[in-house]
Amino acid sequence: MVDHDVVVVGGGGAGLRAAIAIAQTSPRLRVAVVSKVYPMRSHTVSAEGGAAAVIATGDTLDEHAHDTVSGSDWLADQDAVEAFVAEAPRELLALEHWGCPWSRLPDGEVAVRAFGGMRKMRTWFAADKTGFHLLHTLFQTSLKYAQIARYDEWYVTTLLVDEDRVHGVVGIELATGRVEAITGRAVVLCTGGCGRVFPFTTNGNIKTGDGMALAYRAGAPLKDMEFVQYHPTGLPFTGILITEAARAEGGWLINKDGYRYLQDYDLGTPSPTPVLRSMELGPRDRLSQAFVHEQEKGRTVDTPYGPVVYLDLRHLGAAMIDSKLPFVRELCLSYERIDPVHELIPVRPVQHYMMGGVHTDLDGATGLPGLYAAGEVACVSINGANRLGSNSLPELLVFGRRAGIAAAEFAAAHRGRPGPVVRSRVADERRRLEHDLLARRDGRERIAEIRTEMQHTMEGSAGIYREAESIVKGADRLRELRERLGKATVEDTSRVFNTELVAALELEAMLDVSETMLACALRREESRGAHQRTDFPNRDDARYLAHSLVSRNPTGSPRVDHLPVTITRWPPGERVYGR
Ligand code: FUM
Repeated sequence: MVDHDVVVVGGGGAGLRAAIAIAQTSPRLRVAVVSKVYPMRSHTVSAEGGAAAVIATGDTLDEHAHDTVSGSDWLADQDAVEAFVAEAPRELLALEHWGCPWSRLPDGEVAVRAFGGMRKMRTWFAADKTGFHLLHTLFQTSLKYAQIARYDEWYVTTLLVDEDRVHGVVGIELATGRVEAITGRAVVLCTGGCGRVFPFTTNGNIKTGDGMALAYRAGAPLKDMEFVQYHPTGLPFTGILITEAARAEGGWLINKDGYRYLQDYDLGTPSPTPVLRSMELGPRDRLSQAFVHEQEKGRTVDTPYGPVVYLDLRHLGAAMIDSKLPFVRELCLSYERIDPVHELIPVRPVQHYMMGGVHTDLDGATGLPGLYAAGEVACVSINGANRLGSNSLPELLVFGRRAGIAAAEFAAAHRGRPGPVVRSRVADERRRLEHDLLARRDGRERIAEIRTEMQHTMEGSAGIYREAESIVKGADRLRELRERLGKATVEDTSRVFNTELVAALELEAMLDVSETMLACALRREESRGAHQRTDFPNRDDARYLAHSLVSRNPTGSPRVDHLPVTITRWPPGERVYGR
């Protein structure tokens, strides 16, 4: 057993921000950062377009809050949104002081760009590699603090819980196969989302819902799991993101006839005070839905990797693309062998983000004492039914910091070392991992096949549009897949970097998370934001202006309850965007 005061699970943006906050505010505490990958390989690195926070003259915190609430289709908790917009500028300035190379105007001011659903230009950026620079900045800052110990390439398999409190985690050191308890008096989950439950996603292979499953199994409920964000512009085949910044800088979406089809769709009522054009910069849920309608009308182009429309950047010119969108050009050249300076980019909607996650309060506290969560794994909730692009980076900073500080306070207030119950749980988990899973030699099922079937099931049941019949069918299928997983063999029996064992554990997590998504999707009989039910096409505030809260029954099945949405200053209304 190795002992620390606070254990942070996940070494991406939220995890590093939490660890830095603990080191700065409680320098005597020893912090462990346990990460499945080397921190610079965390998925934060692939964020592209930018981070929203009010800085420009003429913009206000109220406007950022209103855009976020309206973008969320009124499902965001407004107290969380108010805290978020107030603290986001301070976080981005802190990054500036730590060395983040924000793009600048010629006079030296921080540059901002427009982003979808935001009526003012407030998205800070570092060209179109914002996540890369943000993660580097956090990582190098974390290196200053000797009290932060890193466990790189460790996979956490369970939370240690006793007397209704969390006492740390059990993890596998991937390089050796060693199974070890890493104990602490508080744990902060920062493991990111679960995009890999879908077949076509912008998310890296590591995003398998591990933290969501850890919390859910330990008794901490998940929230709003039916809300899955599709980003309108992914590259066919790979799903690689072509940033919304390309449209913010003036790119057009055109169909097979070369027509800017978004003018035919209602992307939100025209704003009484139009500030930004809304067509290509409409919210992501509406743009992804418009693609489906274009496809139904036969106005998309068929390719071996599915139907596409085109993103046209040609009119922006090489100089602008190279200065503001260099990564877009690089990705198109590397993965599609096309040059956007001269050619159209084929794109289609791709799963990108989970609005739902572990239910937390404004300080990242979950329903389980000592357990905190922040970043995409968590649902605080500022995103409600649809996140606005460029709110997720400041979200992981604001709430990563808050969760770190709250976890440190919890750890300082609770003394004592783990008792015999925790020690016996560690022994049980070691037995399960070292003997049961690796010893099962008679199974005929293969992990990769079950995973592929799960991904297609989720696409069919919880994609851009859903309805009761497909959701119920999907839930039945997931139950079958779970049974099949029980009969699967991990063929690789070695201890060193046993990626097949990790894949089996990740699949268990993804099946748990998928079940909660379908249970919540079935229960919400309305359409709101990214949750579009063809059998219930309207928003229904009378019944569903509420969060879904999903807990695990003793039998293992999901149980969905509702939790009121916090409304502070913006009564539910129509979503409004400028034209
Ligand atoms: O398109 C993008 O650059 C994505 C940004 C985001 O999801 O916040």
